Amino acid sequence: MRYGYFDDQHHEYVITQPDTPLPWINYLGSEAYFGIVSNTAGGYSFYRDARLRRITRYRYNNVSLDCGGRYIYVRDNDTGEFWSPSWQPTRHELEGYTCRHGLGYTVIGSTYKGIEAQTRYFVPLGESLEIWQLTLTNQREESANLSVFSSIEFCLWDAQDDATNFQRNFSTGEVEVEDGVIYHKTEYRERRNHFAFFACSEELAGFDTQRDVFLGPYRGWDNPVAVERGRSFNSVARGWAPMGSHHVRVTLKPGETRQVIFLLGYHENPRDQKFDPPGSQRINKQTVKPVIGKYLNKDNVDAAFEALCAYWDRLLGIFEVETPDVHTDRMVNIWNPYQCMVTFNLSRSASLFESGIGRGVGFRDSNQDLLGFVHMVPERARERILDLAATQLETGGAYHQYQPLTKRGNDEIGSSFNDDPLWLILSVAAYLKETGDWSILDELVVYENQPGTEKPLYEHLQRSLRYTLDRLGPHGLPLIGRADWNDCLNLNTFSEVPGESFQTITGKNGKVAESVFIAGLFVLAAEEMASMARERGLTDEAQLYHDEAATMEVTVLKHGWDGEWFLRAYDYLSRKVGSHECDEGQIFIEPQGFCILAGIGLCDGQAEEALAAVKERLATPHGIILQQPAYSQYYLHLGEISSYPPGYKENAGIFCHTNPWIMIAEAIIGHGDQAHDYYLRINPSAREAISEVHRCEPYVYAQMIAGRDAPTHGEAKNSWLTGTAAWNYVAITQWILGIRPTYAGLQIAPVIPSDWSEFKATRVFRGVTYHIIVKRAGKGNTVSLTVDGKEITGNVVPVFGDGKTHQIEIIIGEEVQEL
Ligand code: GLC
Ligand code: GLC
Repeated sequence: MRYGYFDDQHHEYVITQPDTPLPWINYLGSEAYFGIVSNTAGGYSFYRDARLRRITRYRYNNVSLDCGGRYIYVRDNDTGEFWSPSWQPTRHELEGYTCRHGLGYTVIGSTYKGIEAQTRYFVPLGESLEIWQLTLTNQREESANLSVFSSIEFCLWDAQDDATNFQRNFSTGEVEVEDGVIYHKTEYRERRNHFAFFACSEELAGFDTQRDVFLGPYRGWDNPVAVERGRSFNSVARGWAPMGSHHVRVTLKPGETRQVIFLLGYHENPRDQKFDPPGSQRINKQTVKPVIGKYLNKDNVDAAFEALCAYWDRLLGIFEVETPDVHTDRMVNIWNPYQCMVTFNLSRSASLFESGIGRGVGFRDSNQDLLGFVHMVPERARERILDLAATQLETGGAYHQYQPLTKRGNDEIGSSFNDDPLWLILSVAAYLKETGDWSILDELVVYENQPGTEKPLYEHLQRSLRYTLDRLGPHGLPLIGRADWNDCLNLNTFSEVPGESFQTITGKNGKVAESVFIAGLFVLAAEEMASMARERGLTDEAQLYHDEAATMEVTVLKHGWDGEWFLRAYDYLSRKVGSHECDEGQIFIEPQGFCILAGIGLCDGQAEEALAAVKERLATPHGIILQQPAYSQYYLHLGEISSYPPGYKENAGIFCHTNPWIMIAEAIIGHGDQAHDYYLRINPSAREAISEVHRCEPYVYAQMIAGRDAPTHGEAKNSWLTGTAAWNYVAITQWILGIRPTYAGLQIAPVIPSDWSEFKATRVFRGVTYHIIVKRAGKGNTVSLTVDGKEITGNVVPVFGDGKTHQIEIIIGEEVQEL
């Protein structure tokens, strides 16, 4: 069942029924000011950090679902009836409800008793504010005498404190109302130099800033007393719960249309210019007023919206494809790069599944996210790499997370996730291949944010590799530490205390448990370092890295091969994890994917065997399961993985992040049909038709789909902020469509389904536009390449650097000779 449809031409998903299985959200903002907006206008906003600069309130776990948002009420003053054009919070039966989630904007509209109301929400580029552009149309035969009420609830900045520290917070709230603009200034009197503002383009009939006056005692957002009676109270918040609501009266003739603009924004003043007049307690509004004035003007708002669309068109234009499969096109051209940008901006901080107060920017997560956006915003990727590297420790290890506002490593969670540093090598390699900007390797970067410890980025990478080699276990495989990529495989934790964090408790000394996954990642990273060194003319060093990779490969084949697939790990007692010898958890997906990505087992058939085992034991119609059989009980020596009920999350859920590794592995061994088949199983667009099963948004990837051991097999959770976005983008664009940046140029080596006779692509790479057409002549994946009509040997289009457009023609497969 569908709840809407894709409008590919406008880059939108159009939801036509408000009661989707879960709130289907979108993101506003792309630089510093961000918001979550659901299909019924639920959600919240923040400036840079969802925990420390929360602008509006939202209650996770709330009933009714997804309440707290950017709500507008329309009231018919002749009858007293009122409703929400976005359905929530009044939930009237609306006509023609649609929510258009587009790239960086959302438009929600409906008609009720002849009054059409549509609101476009977006954040203009370069600004710290969001716009709600409401368009009202009277479709009645007679005039309509309406009231419009806006509403938001302010958060007292620190979202964690806001939700807990009531003894203080019920007394601190403060606002100012001036010229119809509501300013939220809690704690501005003391150490904050920032405030929020909520403005309206029309003359006000009234306003409210005290939530409990606006709503009335014991009432909810579905029934505010101010809206019911059709008149604001002009309340001024002193403590309790500051909110913002404007009341505007609008009379519309039959057929008449009017616009009302609301602005919600964040503003900072220099510390010594906070007050006006100086010495008073009033906010200095000199620099904010021009901004407010600008965006209360409709033409400026329309121009800002055009600019936002142009921005996205430019980013999406860097890689576009036209294939025989609509789901591939839609995800590659629109939604997957969009989701990659969202993961870049938000990391794992704010979604319906990430509360905004939980996690900072993850080291391994962000390095992987980069693989999906580096081609769109290389300058920002460069900055992100340098930020991440600055949280690295001198040992080569890394802080697992940092806070976006301070960019400092997070002490609460610390380090010792032994895979972390290796991901930095992969992201830097991707950046170099995309941009050719070798200067980044010479950038001086501190360790642990300590001034005076600056070393070239290249040395950070060397230490990342060394970190693994300094920590080898009894079999010569890398020690796992707190956990590797699988945060929940906690082989050293041994936690028996309820509620204890599985990931930060170190129960055992960590000198025994080893990870085959890290071994695979190490081989891949060491080979990347070898190529990097070779490119820089460091031949001996390149050889050294290559030798280290080769040694690890031998170790993996000796101690990490279980007979039919790669082993997952050795536990604290050096017992096998992910082996046919185990009762449960016999085969894990991660080492099958990563060892093959690293090229292990390609010569002697292990890769083929491992992939056959994946197909037989882990693949389901809803995607490939993380491990099987599921753990049926809690195992002290395995940790969090066995804490989940079977079929969910790391305990035999379909952890979508890992599926593209298998797609890539299949592509590496030349299986285009199998690779693309796996791709479609978790492709959200391809799952749209079963939205009642999938339940999450059909336009973005989710972290997890319940596995076959779960009663809700096929149900997705944790949409949006997941490494699934970047890795699927890499799998489909670089390995299945086969268009991948290398140091020497753009390599084109498609491994596509056998029934695709042709596809086209446009790729902007190092300032040059390539129009690529790939045609199938016969079976197999051999490539013959023509550039601007001239044949070229190999499959790499050289770097032209001429800023021009080039035509690339590829013939794949061998022509079958007619007898
Ligand atoms: C989550 C984490 C990621 C981890 C994965 C597997 O997605 O953000 O760091 O690798 O879970 O446990
Ligand atoms: C839980 C999740 C895992 C995530 C981790 C982050 O363990 O299962 O996916 O990576 O939390 O802290």
